[in-house]
Amino acid sequence: MSDKNYTLTGESGSADLPSYSGTLGPDVADVRKLYAQQNIFTFDPGFASTASCRSEITFIDGDEGVLLYRGYPVEQLAKNSSFIEVCYLLLYGELPTKAELDKFDNNIRTHTMINETMLRLFNGFHHDAHPMAMVSGVVGSMSAFYHETMDIHNARHREIFSHRIIAKLPTIAAAAYKHSLGQPFVYPRNDLDYSSNLLQMFFSVPAEEYEIDSVAAEAIDLLLILHADHEQNCSTSTVRLAGSSGTNPYSAIAAGIAALWGPAHGGANEAVLRMLEQIGSAKNIDEYVAKAKDKDDPFRLMGFGHRVYKNFDPRATIIRDMCHKVLAKLGRDDDPLFELALELEQVALKDEYFVEKKLYPNVDFYSGIIYRALGFQPSMFTVMFAIARTVGWVSHWQEMITDPEHRIGRPRQLYVGPAARDYIDVAKR
Ligand code: SDX
Repeated sequence: MSDKNYTLTGESGSADLPSYSGTLGPDVADVRKLYAQQNIFTFDPGFASTASCRSEITFIDGDEGVLLYRGYPVEQLAKNSSFIEVCYLLLYGELPTKAELDKFDNNIRTHTMINETMLRLFNGFHHDAHPMAMVSGVVGSMSAFYHETMDIHNARHREIFSHRIIAKLPTIAAAAYKHSLGQPFVYPRNDLDYSSNLLQMFFSVPAEEYEIDSVAAEAIDLLLILHADHEQNCSTSTVRLAGSSGTNPYSAIAAGIAALWGPAHGGANEAVLRMLEQIGSAKNIDEYVAKAKDKDDPFRLMGFGHRVYKNFDPRATIIRDMCHKVLAKLGRDDDPLFELALELEQVALKDEYFVEKKLYPNVDFYSGIIYRALGFQPSMFTVMFAIARTVGWVSHWQEMITDPEHRIGRPRQLYVGPAARDYIDVAKR
């Protein structure tokens, strides 16, 4: 509903922009008729001031450090819920009853295997292929396996797709990891919960018994909850834009994985660890903070800053606190990289550049330290992020496909190239 109007006045008259209020957060001004009425476009590179859609899934207040999944504070879900229950909440909009949760959990557990032909795709990659390259490629190939349930306008097909891809991502990720090690693929086990199953597929070997570490499983489940969704971030917007063309959902998710890989986005968790290894010691912190502040130096302090959070990232706070617990329980609380990260955070938070630009640690700053303590290689960190965010991407894809207002995404531009000019024969150039 339009609650009040904004008026834009220019040389060619004025345009009334209806505005709408949401449940929480800023109002929006509807500019859909602006071009037709005033022959001008809005200009917002990076979409920092643009609402691309209506959504009921996740709300972020960047100034207050608030993150709600379907209205529930992420802190409460982190404390009381499980990743599988959060998947149900994000997909269906409500917390499940016990019976609903058990049915959903069973659905996920019984879809964790991948087609043996899909498994053979991994043999096409070199052993040193980056796991994100393998995962995005194999997820994209899923559209070649599931022809019979890819009608995006069929609600049951959409539900089957959502269960399938959430269930199979850990299996595909673990297969990529085993391929990089030259170790045999480990099949999923339906008697294990999501995070325990993930651990055994990654770290068990046929040659010996594997005991699930409950602390590790709990830490992974919490990290998956914290990374599950985050409003219209880069990769989620990519999934929505790709999906808006009507392409199959597996290809849309593969596009999201590709976008997540970037070091400015989900690739930051791997970049943070490599940065900490590069800094090496607390005595070098000042040098690197100076580099991060130097406009002529492309170096940025990875794991710091956020488009939306200008106070603190609530996920970073929870993960930092969990770091202490996990490292202590794993006997790694003397991890020099964790000590270095804590020192770096303190130095950066006192530096006027970071204070003035409101750059705080984000979700990626500490997560890599935990993943490393759990035995994951840095190249797997963003894969772990993708496993978690798949439910967010699927939820937003479903919301977009069923939104009566949705249409193919097709932004315009401010053209600053050459005006029309005639072809010149090569002999005259
Ligand atoms: C994620 O959007 C989401 O929700 C993402 C995410 C999710 O859950 O989906 O939260 C996950 O992607 C977290 C962000 C992970 N990325 C990093 O840690 C990489 C390092 N951070 C930066 O690249 C940057 O802060 C971004 C990409 C996160 C945000 O970029 P913006 O909003 O476009 O901000 P900006 O680049 O315009 O920076 C504003 C100013 C600039 O200085 P000025 O041009 O104003 O002088 O702050 C500076 C930047 O140079 N700046 C940094 C910095 N981040 C921003 N300077 C040094 N180190 C940094 N990390």
